[in-house]
Amino acid sequence: MVSLDHALVFLGQDLFIKLVISAAVQSYYNQSGNGYSLCKGGLYHHAIGTAMIAEKVARLTNSTIPSIAYTAGLLHDIGKVVLDQYIAGAYPLLYREFQERSAEMIEVETKVLGMDHTRAGGLLAEKWSLPDPLTDAIRFHHRPEESRSDRSLTTIVYLADLLMSRFHSGLELERMGAAKLADRLASLDLSTTQFQTLVDLIPKKVFEPAIESVDTDQ
Ligand SMILES: [Fe+2]
Ligand SMILES: [Fe+2]
Repeated sequence: MVSLDHALVFLGQDLFIKLVISAAVQSYYNQSGNGYSLCKGGLYHHAIGTAMIAEKVARLTNSTIPSIAYTAGLLHDIGKVVLDQYIAGAYPLLYREFQERSAEMIEVETKVLGMDHTRAGGLLAEKWSLPDPLTDAIRFHHRPEESRSDRSLTTIVYLADLLMSRFHSGLELERMGAAKLADRLASLDLSTTQFQTLVDLIPKKVFEPAIESVDTDQ
């Protein structure tokens, strides 16, 4: 227990919890192959980036607890791990839907698999008995206005996911839709002119700075 105490003192409770949760989530995401992500580890990379942005947006808007936003960002796409093996076999169809119709990922998943990753993730979150706000953020991060438990948290995860998929892309098959963006920003008291401020929150390097984000933002 001495080493645990030292770690807590050295890192601080917030960062310590963040590192522990990130490690646990990493082993879960690492079960996925190359279905959704264009390379091994891509889903975890996307999860960490989304978590970092969500935490910063929570601080900026003061609308939810930053560490909860970080955790929700980490977990938002857990349903993709469940569906990953099936998605890999449907690539030609997926590609056509994205190219020809600019379809949203959840629409294509439902068409191809009969289930989308937000529903799969929501079911998993219930099975794991996650708190309602986290379950809600996982289930409704593509349509935050349907969130029943904590709409601010779910909207923050949606925004972080959008920013990560649009401006930090390269590893991801998915591009989030930006429909209703103005209304969703307004629900957090943000205007469309503040969108650039949000873009500036995107970390340059996703994998060096769980630590950096705590140091500079607190
Ligand atoms: Fe998603
Ligand atoms: Fe995502």
